[in-house]
Amino acid sequence: LATVEVDISHIAEGEAIVIKWRGKPIFIRHRTAAEIEAARTVDMSVLVDKQADTDRVEKDDWLVVVGTCTHLGCVPLGSKSGDDRGDFGGWFCPCHGSHYDTSGRIRKGPAPKNLAVPEYAFMSDTTIKIG
Ligand code: FES
Repeated sequence: LATVEVDISHIAEGEAIVIKWRGKPIFIRHRTAAEIEAARTVDMSVLVDKQADTDRVEKDDWLVVVGTCTHLGCVPLGSKSGDDRGDFGGWFCPCHGSHYDTSGRIRKGPAPKNLAVPEYAFMSDTTIKIG
């Protein structure tokens, strides 16, 4: 399918889901106020792939990223409860130890780029169309 519509009404704050889009995992995280704050207040000079959080989200409390590690393509942990979310509270790729923050930006480890943001749009407050 070129596009997929996802009901996000059941995703509680602090939780995430993984859906499939064009054969790729897509992570959708309902961010907490603390996670948004962490993503917004980081000093840009420390970022490997310098992108402001505001350029990566449509709505502050929802982060949508392609769940493919930009190192060698493993699927990072951090979308299931109990997952290791790494040193920056986002996602952690156990293959070679890449840590992503609450904006999906690479902060530590061998991955060279932030988790990609797919094309998406809010159809309503509770539905996102990916693609
Ligand atoms: Fe993720 Fe290597 S594939 S750290």
